[in-house]
Amino acid sequence: MLRTHTCGQLLLADVNKQVTLCGWVQKTRDLGGMTFIDLRDRYGITQLAFNLDWDKNICEKARELSREFVIKISGTVIERESKNKNNPTGDIEIRVTTLDILNKSITPPFTIEEQSDGGDELRMRYRYLDLRRASVRKNLELRHRLAIETRNYLDLLSFIEVETPVLIKSTPEGARDFVVPSRMNKNEFYALPQSPQTFKQLLMVSGFDRYYQIVKCFRDEDLRADRQPEFTQIDCEMSFVEQEDILNTFEGLIQHLFKKVKNISIDKLPRITYAHAMEFYGNDKPDTRFDMHLVQLNKAQNNVVAGKNFKLFDEAELVLAICAKGAANYTRKQLDELTEWVKRPQIGMSGLVYARVSEDGTIKSSVDKFYNEAALQLWANACKAQKGDLILVLSGSENKTRKAMSELRLEMGNRLGLRGKDKYACLWVVDFPLLEWNEGDPNLPESMRGRWVAKHHPFTSPKPEDVSLLTTNPGEVRANAYDMVINGVEVGGGSIRIYERELQEKMFSILGFTREEAQKQFGFLLHAFEFGAPPHGGIAFGFDRLCSLFAGAESIRDFIAFPKNNHGRDTMIDAPSTISEEQLNELNIQLKK
Ligand code: AMO
Repeated sequence: MLRTHTCGQLLLADVNKQVTLCGWVQKTRDLGGMTFIDLRDRYGITQLAFNLDWDKNICEKARELSREFVIKISGTVIERESKNKNNPTGDIEIRVTTLDILNKSITPPFTIEEQSDGGDELRMRYRYLDLRRASVRKNLELRHRLAIETRNYLDLLSFIEVETPVLIKSTPEGARDFVVPSRMNKNEFYALPQSPQTFKQLLMVSGFDRYYQIVKCFRDEDLRADRQPEFTQIDCEMSFVEQEDILNTFEGLIQHLFKKVKNISIDKLPRITYAHAMEFYGNDKPDTRFDMHLVQLNKAQNNVVAGKNFKLFDEAELVLAICAKGAANYTRKQLDELTEWVKRPQIGMSGLVYARVSEDGTIKSSVDKFYNEAALQLWANACKAQKGDLILVLSGSENKTRKAMSELRLEMGNRLGLRGKDKYACLWVVDFPLLEWNEGDPNLPESMRGRWVAKHHPFTSPKPEDVSLLTTNPGEVRANAYDMVINGVEVGGGSIRIYERELQEKMFSILGFTREEAQKQFGFLLHAFEFGAPPHGGIAFGFDRLCSLFAGAESIRDFIAFPKNNHGRDTMIDAPSTISEEQLNELNIQLKK
């Protein structure tokens, strides 16, 4: 080793030791007679001291060092006169006796400090320098710890980690595939896996019984803070299990991770149905750190808004309210701002109605012309609003209003400080519908529009009691599918699988595949089911999302060593990029001009 210790190691107990350290020059301070250098490595920062009176040559050499030079020093650990309580090594410094420059550095494009002066773009282009910053490095250390603890937990339960291929077959389900042309098989393409779904099922047919893999997956979809084109799953599958077994096993994993990595005890996870989540939270990944349930004011059996000549509510498919506890003191300005917020194109509502329940119990609303105090009291009753609360109401078409209210609920949660980063609300959402009618999502390829699509994926089994509805009323069929949600983030999802050829064929046919298409795309799986496939099921967690949640961060990018930007580009290595004419010819590809 070039060094005896790291820069995060030396304490008062080490005073008088002779040590050798290596690292990067974080900062130099020249105080005339004395020069101080902060030396940084992965483990921390140690102060180096140089004094003209101790050794003139070394002191002058130290003065010539610039930021990010790589150096090796030897010297004696001494107690510091002015201690730095914010640094674990802040009680000591090194009186340097030898100094070697191992490598020079040109001036870095941004300061490598916690409050860096570099913008996002620049730091992404020089990601290897950004990774020198402690906060980014700590994110990857957290990722490492979570991976190790995941492996420990699953290994104890006899799960075996198996690698599945990265060059596979393109299939029309799910998101768009990334494809790779094959040189040896002209005009044919591999696809990169969106997940190892079919392979893990084949491993169950092989009798592996319990499989897992921490694995890269690839999806060519529009990017958001919690989506990357290549991301990592903790992918798992088990044989001879029912849904209950999977839920218990994998809430055990999450409890284990929280305990080992954050020393937080997580209770048994509550379970709510998809229908409940949609009704009370407006989406299938509810943030349950706070209540603020959605309340329908125009229910058929209890319509508290109709018949008052307020056309907007009378004609609306859905009138939804939330009650923001203690927010009656919102000023007119704050309410106008909220109204503008719901009118933004991302939310797309035409306006917002509100009613304040004041401390004396009187209720005033923005629609007093139509609703008197008694009428508003019915709203308050429906929303369980009390003195000091603010009722917010949105109306319009069913889906749009529910979605908008779900967003407004989260926004109010933020504004009222109900979504604290160190609070964790984990739950299961169960009983998803098996199928979803797809009208024509312009984001989907043409072939997938105007038909039933699998809500989870085509290998998910319907609930046995709903199988008879498959032909009569496909939209009503519930699946043995489940998602784990933490703080409003879908961290994982899975299902009990179909394991019989006949049912799988029926499923493909409902999804609009002809027999030939199903055979061409998934014949290998259908055939495998004929060789004694065991009942099985599984789940996959979004590993990057788990990491960001554990750190209380929004974006998964900072938990990936070399992520892509919002345009799917790696600006550091400049990918994607063009390839040579020769490569194109070999692959038999002609580019459009
Ligand atoms: P699913 O498609 O729900 O299921 O994916 C599982 C989990 O992966 C995470 N995830 C992503 N994370 C980052 N960027 C993305 N683009 C991205 N897409 C998904 C989410 C999600 O919950 N094979 C099935 C699992 C199974 O049935 O066992 C599957 O892939 O956290």
